[in-house]
Amino acid sequence: MKITNAIERLEALGGDKWAVYKMARQMMADGHDVIEMAIGEPDVPTPEYLIDAAMAALRSGRTGYASSAGENNLRHALAERYTRQADREILPEQVLCFPGTQTALYAVISAVAASGDEVVLGGPMYATYASVMASTGAKMVPVPLQAENGFRIQAADIEDRITPGTTLIFLNTPHNPTGAVLTEQDIADIGAVAASFGQIEGRDRTA
Ligand SMILES: Cc1ncc(COP(=O)(O)O)c(C=O)c1O
Repeated sequence: MKITNAIERLEALGGDKWAVYKMARQMMADGHDVIEMAIGEPDVPTPEYLIDAAMAALRSGRTGYASSAGENNLRHALAERYTRQADREILPEQVLCFPGTQTALYAVISAVAASGDEVVLGGPMYATYASVMASTGAKMVPVPLQAENGFRIQAADIEDRITPGTTLIFLNTPHNPTGAVLTEQDIADIGAVAASFGQIEGRDRTA
């Protein structure tokens, strides 16, 4: 059987952390009192109105394919919301919906970073980022997050790690797992670093 590069890239990562997670879940199912500090499973119940709306939609026959870009009314609602938030016009055609963050990240990284391109991001990081990154072939360049900076990623630390191979800077705020929230100044500083490296080897990296 032919094994693709993607499988080879992922094989090296192993699944140790998921083995711990599965063991904890099994212990809970067996009645042990476990405090789970792993993935961000919400600890509040799904609101009744969402369950009712989903059930009503299913019962009314909405069981077929949806638009893969996202339902039109949702794309319009999101465009309006982000137009207000960003204070510039965002069109519904500029909104794409994904079934989860991993899929969205995979699509964005695949679109922007060629295999071997570098992605700078803060570490520690969310549990699945290494696998998402590895599956695209992009190279992860972690910036250690420091307690003395409140675990907020620093523009100067990012700057130190930018090379001609850098295509992406990942910002996660509020950050998981540290909970750090970037300030407007942090984001402006990081933006200035990105802009200053924007034109390398004729490639526009600021888009
Ligand atoms: C920072 C971060 N990225 C990604 C995810 C995963 O998102 P999804 O389950 O939508 O793929 C989470 C989930 O908690 C997260 O905290």
